[in-house]
Amino acid sequence: MAESRTAAPHLAQYYAKRAAIYEQVYDKPERQHELEWLRRRVPEVFSGRTVLEVACGTGYWTQFIARTAARVYACDINDAVLEIAREKPIAPGRVSFFKADAVTLEGAPGGCDAAFAGFWWSHVKKSELARFVRNLAAKLVPGAVVAILDNRYAEGSSTPISRRDAEGNTYQVRHLPNGEEYEVLKNFPAPEELAEAVRPVAREARLETVGYYWLMVFTIR
Ligand SMILES: C[S@@+](CC[C@H](N)C(=O)[O-])C[C@H]1O[C@@H](n2cnc3c(N)ncnc32)[C@H](O)[C@@H]1O
Repeated sequence: MAESRTAAPHLAQYYAKRAAIYEQVYDKPERQHELEWLRRRVPEVFSGRTVLEVACGTGYWTQFIARTAARVYACDINDAVLEIAREKPIAPGRVSFFKADAVTLEGAPGGCDAAFAGFWWSHVKKSELARFVRNLAAKLVPGAVVAILDNRYAEGSSTPISRRDAEGNTYQVRHLPNGEEYEVLKNFPAPEELAEAVRPVAREARLETVGYYWLMVFTIR
């Protein structure tokens, strides 16, 4: 089925191979202050809600969201990260981890009143964003709250951009500890691009930016 998997397969492969060391991205010393704020802010958004989390990775954000949410359905394309996520210290019955593509969302439950995507938006091609937003909104009820968290480009802290393609997507060259090299799509959208992308489904959207991160919170119409 051509539609069942959307992002470049090598992106998924890169994250599968990085699973064991993925959470080192949360150890950067200069980012600790902002991460501390996000670990409080993100769960606040989801208090009492049933959350669909896409591209959940190792469950780093899931563990914090699960502290306030009623229920979390968290999916990722990679078994390697889901295995780590399932070991997170989360109260029993609060979270279900399952395998699904973040864009097609085939097999994900509908009727959720919230959704979260951490560090996924930046990996979606600009030409795929409308489909991602539409499919995500289709899983949610009117009034559902959505939070999208991702990186701002920070000189000296972010991996440099190696190239830009014809539709404006940017790329980084990343290395695994074994020396393997991957070119990874990583976009750093402008605030107006973000607002434009969610406009078809959002009643209102608010962008909260700090030095290294942006958090967009919007409500589904
Ligand atoms: C940057 S990581 C973010 C992980 C987690 N959300 C976090 O914030 O720590 C990107 C994640 O996207 C997942 N991924 C890659 N391609 C995917 C796809 N087509 N559908 C769902 N997840 C995918 C990877 O396995 C990886 O866990």
